[in-house]
Amino acid sequence: MATSCVHMMGSLALSISCLIIINAIAAAGEQRRLLQAETVYDITKYGAKGDGTTDDAMSFIQAWRAGCDSKGGVRILIPPGKFMMGEVILSGECTATPPMIVDIQGTLLANPDPSSYSNEKWILIEHVDNIKITGGGTLNAQGANAWKYAKEDAHMPVSFTFQSSKNGDISNLNLLDAMGFHSKLIDSDNIKVTKMTITAPEESPNTDGIHLSNATNVEITDTVIGTGDDCISIGTGSKNVLIKNVKCGPGHGLAVGSLGKRPDEISVGNITFSSCSLAGTTNGARIKSYHKSPVMTATNIVFEDITLDNVKNPIIIDQHYFSKMVAEQSNVKISDVHFRRIKGTTISEIPILFNCSTTNPCENIELADIDLKPVGAAKSVESVCVSAIGIKPSGTVNPPPPKC
Ligand SMILES: *[C@@H]1O[C@H](CO)[C@@H](O)[C@H](O)[C@H]1NC(C)=O
Ligand SMILES: *[C@@H]1O[C@H](CO)[C@@H](O)[C@H](O)[C@H]1NC(C)=O
Ligand SMILES: *[C@@H]1O[C@H](CO)[C@@H](O)[C@H](O)[C@H]1NC(C)=O
Repeated sequence: MATSCVHMMGSLALSISCLIIINAIAAAGEQRRLLQAETVYDITKYGAKGDGTTDDAMSFIQAWRAGCDSKGGVRILIPPGKFMMGEVILSGECTATPPMIVDIQGTLLANPDPSSYSNEKWILIEHVDNIKITGGGTLNAQGANAWKYAKEDAHMPVSFTFQSSKNGDISNLNLLDAMGFHSKLIDSDNIKVTKMTITAPEESPNTDGIHLSNATNVEITDTVIGTGDDCISIGTGSKNVLIKNVKCGPGHGLAVGSLGKRPDEISVGNITFSSCSLAGTTNGARIKSYHKSPVMTATNIVFEDITLDNVKNPIIIDQHYFSKMVAEQSNVKISDVHFRRIKGTTISEIPILFNCSTTNPCENIELADIDLKPVGAAKSVESVCVSAIGIKPSGTVNPPPPKC
């Protein structure tokens, strides 16, 4: 647009009409993008067959490369259809006018052989600044085959990884049946994730919905996640994170952690889960850390306005994650944790449990307006505490706050 106006400036009449167009463009944000010369890079123009069996990865990569390395507005398009593909790496940095738009309207089917991925990642976005990924389409990793081989430490391919990037806007996508985690945001800053649907069977192993690792300034909103593992898990180095209006279940619930598994982990903080609901999950609001951990902190963590339906461990801090040894203590210092307005039903008789490190007690834990009612096999409820100092109850707290 700008270029053609400059060419027309020779004529006064034309330059006036040019100004009118510019004003009209400025009036409507969305229309502005359409009017700007935006080149569509359709993967079918780069050879994608879309027959559901031919590997179309190279077409996606080539369309991305052409768009990323161009000048001007870019839309990488996966049109409706079924596109099978193995590993795809979309890397920057891009010369195109930001944002890079990846418009996934169709269905991507992963190559279901987990050993065909060199880096345990299916779709990887890396080193990109300012990208919008949307389109209403589906990333179906066809994970059933991989789940048969999944063990605790077998790393199955992650469906969608956003790594070493910033200013990301990810919306309106369906992630289905991941082999491993459905999505990871790693070493990245300023990311908005909204209107996602993430689905896998309850019995699928290690299929976390969204995992953050060293991700800062992140917002995840209006999203529905039901998988076989954590709904959202927030790991090492993540700071300033807001999770709002997320529905979880089945799965393992909302978690900060696990923390401290690896020696290079760093502190986390300023994490808020707000207006979330969980149904049939094994945990509600959870913080978990390993015992053999580096010295680090987890601070200023808020769980508020959380609704629970048949949840096993509604409020839990477990600093003995994956350890049966009470003697082994965690070096993760957990402090300033706020549980506010958490209500609903639980199948556990101990719906509030703080099992903290005896060498690093949990500190300053607020319990405000909590109401957890037993259902099913649970007949009564109580709260239990090991090594926490400064528990601050307010409003009605049912079961009553633990004595530490
Ligand atoms: C965390 O991510 C940032 C980019 O957001 C990066 O610069 C930094 O090196 C990462 N830190 C670690 C410990 O990996
Ligand atoms: C949390 O936010 C406050 C206020 O914005 C800031 O001062 C503090 O450094 C942040 N803490 C972490 C761990 O990011
Ligand atoms: C705390 O965790 C240890 C290790 O898993 C376990 O043995 C102990 O029973 C737990 N304490 C409570 C009160 O649940």
